[in-house]
Amino acid sequence: MEQQIKRNHDRRHFACLLAVLVSACNSENSNYLSDTNAGAVPDSAAFAEQIVLSNRDYLEQDAYAVADREWGERLAMQCRACHALEKNGPTLLGPTLYGVFGRDAGSLPGFDYSPVLASATFVWTPAALDAWLAAPSRFLPGNRMAFAGIQNDVDRDALIAYLLQTGDVSNDVGTADAQ
Ligand code: HEC
Repeated sequence: MEQQIKRNHDRRHFACLLAVLVSACNSENSNYLSDTNAGAVPDSAAFAEQIVLSNRDYLEQDAYAVADREWGERLAMQCRACHALEKNGPTLLGPTLYGVFGRDAGSLPGFDYSPVLASATFVWTPAALDAWLAAPSRFLPGNRMAFAGIQNDVDRDALIAYLLQTGDVSNDVGTADAQ
């Protein structure tokens, strides 16, 4: 079991590293690489430039393909205390998370975001959500999400895989579901 966890962990780092290398070509996030090596959780500034894929494409990535989505569903109970996850779900304490992947941070009309989230300029991707959930107050200091975070990498992968699966698949460019 420990080996399994370690392997997922390594994969995750590898995926992060790839993402960093891609974004490093176009941005000045040169500190991010050394931060990652030091084991630090990246903050929102590290996600200024990202490659955004469809939910289905993300689900084919190693970390999410092998993730335990049933476990993720159970972990998502924590989010349901404050967020609707279904289509046309109500606004609770937090904005609905249906369709969150590919959405600009802090952009859902009608939700009263904190100033830091309202003025954030990144897109919610699995990698950004992963960093937010690892340490919400560190990722975006001053945000109003009263949630301590999920420390375990494997748990975050499971939760994100579940959210990808139940989320808005109409963001699948080039499939029958696309508009
Ligand atoms: C105690 C209530 C609470 C819990 C529990 C909670 N959230 Fe939140 N969440 C919020 C609030 C409030 C905001 C808006 C924060 C702001 O405006 O700064 C938010 C914002 C977010 C956003 C940004 C959405 C956007 O439109 O930009 C994401 C993503 C998110 N939460 C994911 C999650 C996930 C995933 C979980 C479960 C692991 C979770 N949250 C648990 C209250 C909560």
